[in-house]
Amino acid sequence: MSNNTLTITHDRSGKTYQVPIENGTIRAMDLRMIKTSPEDFGVMSYDPAFLNTASCQSAITYIDGDKGILRYRGYPIEQLAEKCTFLEVAYLVLFGELPTDTELKEWTDAITHHTMLHENTKKFLEGFRHDAHPMGIFVSTVAALSTVYPDARNVLDPEVRKLQIYRLIGKVPTISAYCYRHSLGHPYVYPDNDLSYTENFMNMLWKMVEPKYQANSVLARALDILFILHADHEQNCSTNVMRAVGSSQADPFLATAAAATALSGPLHGGANEEVLKMLDEIGSKDRVPAYIDHIKAGHGKLMGFGHRIYKNYDPRARIIKWAADQVFRVTGTSSKLEIALELERIALKDEYFIKRKLYPNVDFYSGIIYQAMGFSPDMFTVLFAIPRTVGWLAQWQEMLTDPEQKIARPRQIYIGHDLRDFVPIEKR
Ligand code: ACO
Repeated sequence: MSNNTLTITHDRSGKTYQVPIENGTIRAMDLRMIKTSPEDFGVMSYDPAFLNTASCQSAITYIDGDKGILRYRGYPIEQLAEKCTFLEVAYLVLFGELPTDTELKEWTDAITHHTMLHENTKKFLEGFRHDAHPMGIFVSTVAALSTVYPDARNVLDPEVRKLQIYRLIGKVPTISAYCYRHSLGHPYVYPDNDLSYTENFMNMLWKMVEPKYQANSVLARALDILFILHADHEQNCSTNVMRAVGSSQADPFLATAAAATALSGPLHGGANEEVLKMLDEIGSKDRVPAYIDHIKAGHGKLMGFGHRIYKNYDPRARIIKWAADQVFRVTGTSSKLEIALELERIALKDEYFIKRKLYPNVDFYSGIIYQAMGFSPDMFTVLFAIPRTVGWLAQWQEMLTDPEQKIARPRQIYIGHDLRDFVPIEKR
């Protein structure tokens, strides 16, 4: 008998089945041969929240959560964050290899020439209340692009897909900056093609009356690094949504809007905003031990801690901590950083957190940096969505070109009523 099989004995029928194991995985469809009669549907697997189910094969991002490893296309995140620009990493994530000099120039040029928004889209954005949450504006505006680019529907054409990739990666910073300026009531700033991707984003956010915006190079680099760290993270909640919506062949603007909606939740990309609220609630370093006791007593979660996959230090959190140091040298330190460091110090020594393998995740420090740079907490998730658009699109493209993929459609176990007769309203 081969070692690469799993032998299952069905106790009811006494039959034995051999199921192949490939890449440490059995195919759920192989369980369907386990039946009591030919009419029997066969055995299904039940896995709420996909705790132990691979939904695809992917060559994009590798994570070893126990060892705290993250790689894009085989390259360690630490090396990419140190040596690359965000657009270089975006190319790698999307197309599988680091770009040559010529490829990088062409890629940068293509993205730079797709940063403008149609004036109608701008008007649409203006319709939101001044205090609308930027993530709501972001999601709706990205979805609205679907009406501007009806050609995007032809998702099976590789050239059409490539054009939408340029458009989306080019336009998400513009939409995000407009969301921000809208909340301040400031006029929108058009993209500046002389600037890098992150510098141009900063230009659209913060340019006032000066003729040419000069980004602080340390802050621009820190933002670029943060974007690199957020570019992809394999099958997380929002990526799973991107793949599921994309599997119906909805256009990528709608699929990206759906993915961004998933990102907005406080258990996912919304966590960095929650971290800031939590740090505000704690208020000072000396109140940290009491706050941790409060969490351990079952009152909520320590936001920015814990991860479905990482059961070790999130490697992104380590790099962000380094980037925070660089940013604080420019902006001056923050009392929130002090509270965060104290939280981390105490939590990492506490039996409750050690036993459950709860470590700081990417969101724990990112909000503190963003706030020091001048962003309000409600912009944090939008700042996450910009780079994650790259990962969503890479996963979307991989899904569409994977011959094994079909429309995503899970099964259920029906636990409702058996057949029963209709009851007229007066008898209910
Ligand atoms: N604070 C306190 N306890 C926690 C935390 C936390 N942040 N996270 C998990 N736990 C506890 C749970 O209560 C549970 O304890 P129990 O075994 O006594 O019931 C145990 O640790 C296991 O937690 P689960 O909820 O089963 O872990 P899961 O993998 O489902 O959740 C998640 C992961 C959602 C990230 C969770 O850790 C959490 O809610 N963290 C706070 C929110 C956050 O920071 N989210 C950002 C994630 S990173 C990202 O999306 C970019």
